[in-house]
Amino acid sequence: MGKRKFSCFEVILIVLFLMVSTVAVVLIALMATAEDVIKDDEVPEVPKDFVPQCPIIALGERIDCYPDAGASQRSCSSRGCCWQPLNETYVPWCFFPTNHGYQVMSEPSYGKAQLKRLPSPSLFGADIEELTFQAERQTPNRFRFKITDAHKKRFEVPHEHVKPNNTDDKLNYEFVLVKNPFGLRLRRKSSGKVLFDTTIGPLVFADQYLQLSAKLPSSNIYGLGEHVHQQFRHDTNWKTWPIFARDAFPNGGTHNLYGAYTFFLCLEDASGKSFGVFLMNSNAMEVTIQPAPAVTYRTIGGVLDFYILLGDTPEGVVQEYLELIGRPVIPPYWALGFQLSRWGYESLDEVKRTVERNREIGLPYDVQYTDIDYMEDKKDFTYDAVKFRDLPQFADYLHAHGQKYILILDPAVATSPRVNGPYASYDRGTKKNAWVTESDGKTPLLGEVWPGETVFPDYTNPACIEWWADEYERFYKEVKHDALWIDMNEVANFKKGSTKGCAINNLNYPPFTPNILDGLMYSKTLCMDAKQTWGKHYDVHSLYGYSMVLATEVALKRAFGNKRTLMLTRSSFPGAGKYSGHWLGDNAANWNDIKWAIPGMLEFGLFGIPYIGADICGFFDDPTEELCRRWMQVGAFYPFSRNHNAQYYKPQDPAFFGADSLLVNSSKHYLNIRYTLLPYLYTLFYKAHVRGDTVVRSLMHEFYNDSTTWTVDRQFLWGPYLLITPVLDPGVDRIRAYITDAVWYDYETEERLTSRKQHVEMFSLRTN
Ligand SMILES: *[C@@H]1O[C@H](CO)[C@@H](O)[C@H](O)[C@H]1NC(C)=O
Ligand SMILES: *[C@@H]1O[C@H](CO)[C@@H](O)[C@H](O)[C@H]1NC(C)=O
Ligand SMILES: *[C@@H]1O[C@H](CO)[C@@H](O)[C@H](O)[C@H]1NC(C)=O
Ligand SMILES: *[C@@H]1O[C@H](CO)[C@@H](O)[C@H](O)[C@H]1NC(C)=O
Repeated sequence: MGKRKFSCFEVILIVLFLMVSTVAVVLIALMATAEDVIKDDEVPEVPKDFVPQCPIIALGERIDCYPDAGASQRSCSSRGCCWQPLNETYVPWCFFPTNHGYQVMSEPSYGKAQLKRLPSPSLFGADIEELTFQAERQTPNRFRFKITDAHKKRFEVPHEHVKPNNTDDKLNYEFVLVKNPFGLRLRRKSSGKVLFDTTIGPLVFADQYLQLSAKLPSSNIYGLGEHVHQQFRHDTNWKTWPIFARDAFPNGGTHNLYGAYTFFLCLEDASGKSFGVFLMNSNAMEVTIQPAPAVTYRTIGGVLDFYILLGDTPEGVVQEYLELIGRPVIPPYWALGFQLSRWGYESLDEVKRTVERNREIGLPYDVQYTDIDYMEDKKDFTYDAVKFRDLPQFADYLHAHGQKYILILDPAVATSPRVNGPYASYDRGTKKNAWVTESDGKTPLLGEVWPGETVFPDYTNPACIEWWADEYERFYKEVKHDALWIDMNEVANFKKGSTKGCAINNLNYPPFTPNILDGLMYSKTLCMDAKQTWGKHYDVHSLYGYSMVLATEVALKRAFGNKRTLMLTRSSFPGAGKYSGHWLGDNAANWNDIKWAIPGMLEFGLFGIPYIGADICGFFDDPTEELCRRWMQVGAFYPFSRNHNAQYYKPQDPAFFGADSLLVNSSKHYLNIRYTLLPYLYTLFYKAHVRGDTVVRSLMHEFYNDSTTWTVDRQFLWGPYLLITPVLDPGVDRIRAYITDAVWYDYETEERLTSRKQHVEMFSLRTN
């Protein structure tokens, strides 16, 4: 690909639709709070001789000492913090003094140092007095430091790919340990720039509250997840993002979603020099980004295990990060084709009618899905022998036309028997003790999901992996299919915690709860004191999807052998991309969600899951023809290009709109461009796999010396050479697009563009 190509979408229909969302999501605050379980006498006294040092600090550099609710002068001073009220709400009124934290007791150097807590008051109790700090030169571009209890082992993520490493090569960074209070500065050697400076705030290390802040050299911060970030570059105006795997709608709130990603990338300046920060920690946490610019992590368990990765370019940082966590799988070539799915097919006949009408219009279309509808009473490893009678042969029916079949499985397993006898999958799992248990380590925890009462497989248990792979292999032999989609693995539970609720203790009600949805740890999931082989659900909750991905990889290998297949997961954790793709979850048919999918895709590129896309035309709600047509156009350029729809909404497969409709013509036109360019897309996946390149890519990755690109997130690139500029608003026939300083050609007309380094108005060049 020598020349850069450019493509703009035609716009024909000029009808303005007022989008009225029919699904209102009401978040109900829960009544039970930490106050119920924290007794006054558990909060340590303020040391008598402690005097907070409160020099004048720039407002944007204040580190919040009251991340929970209810700061007052009195409560602030009981934490030994500084109180300076302001007439505005974002800047914290209660902030840390400069003499809070730990002190380095031994000579700083690579290797270990001992830290001792300064006699300052506690925030949430159970502070750990002595810590071990450990620094590791992992590669010339990768620095790791870990802080943990000096005397007691704490939970650490048992990651499948990340391994210790040491290098004797010349380093591109140097680090300075500041002794009192403890802090560290990591500097880029070539420019002298300080990349990560924790002396802006204290280290707090209690059993259930760990906090560290770092000042950054620039506000060009990208990443953290999984959330809907309405813009790709972060807003540094005191935004707090919770991280804790959660089944929730990606509707634009600042709440936590399906996956857990602490990684962010920081572009230092127009030189392209960049670095990434990854905290290996799976506990519930929140991350605040403030104007300094600075970042503050507040996690409620585990250890502080940071990796800082240097690159000469943003791409270089992603490559360094993916070498650490595992580079992405290459999807099979067919998985780059267009895909159709919905929840709510009434029968296999309805699926076939959909397949046939879309074949008839000549739609480029390679994959058909079935959601949970195919199952008998929504039970895994079964199919509905009446409505989906011919399911075992459905793959043959598709294969005869060169198409593929993907079906869904959920983790939760029903406890009830089948229509005509025992539910053998459940019985075999019970025999193997495959389930997550209550805090006693024996009684399987009961919850409720689609099939009614369920247990939850503990994919961190080798016996459970064996059970899952065995059940899958049996089912694969019964119902032939080509790949697997796994869902509901946050893990989702319709009951709060369990059918019995959850006990009142420090796991279910920690002293500090990050700013997560509902403010309740076990909302829509399991009790935090539930037990798994890797540890307490409190520690491993956000690893549920990741452990299911690892178990499913074993299952797929067993069924498919060396034949290539595909996995799609809803919940994920760093490293999941080594085996699986992801979609952006249960979006809705509106003009916000079509826009927000672009930052979402760009972020999953940073996270190492380049096989990514949003549900085209929206999952919930009925799209207008115009929205669905625009979405088919932009979706033709999602790496994972699937139109998927929820139960009870009208069909939205292209053929439903009529064989001669504009939507069908337009979908075919853009899908044909996609298919023409598949060798290029596949090559990008190859480069992602062998080198860690991104596939869908921000303009900032290629044109970092042009600051205008740093915030562009309504256009995106495929690799370095194809710029996609979609229409994302109703009723418009022209859009403002940014053209960078390079030789660009219009894909459709092959005309060379004359504009460079400017915004241009683009409009319909052709109609069809
Ligand atoms: C705070 O109050 C002062 C004086 O009343 C006013 O000048 C200033 O604009 C206010 N700042 C904000 C952010 O409201
Ligand atoms: C370990 O360090 C060496 C030397 O820098 C590097 O070449 C290698 O890729 C690293 N290995 C891993 C797994 O990070
Ligand atoms: C779609 O394309 C067909 C065949 O080219 C044409 O007959 C039809 O008028 C087009 N429909 C619209 C709405 O443009
Ligand atoms: C920016 O980078 C492009 C190539 O990517 C180069 O042609 C151009 O001269 C650079 N501009 C500046 C101001 O460095």
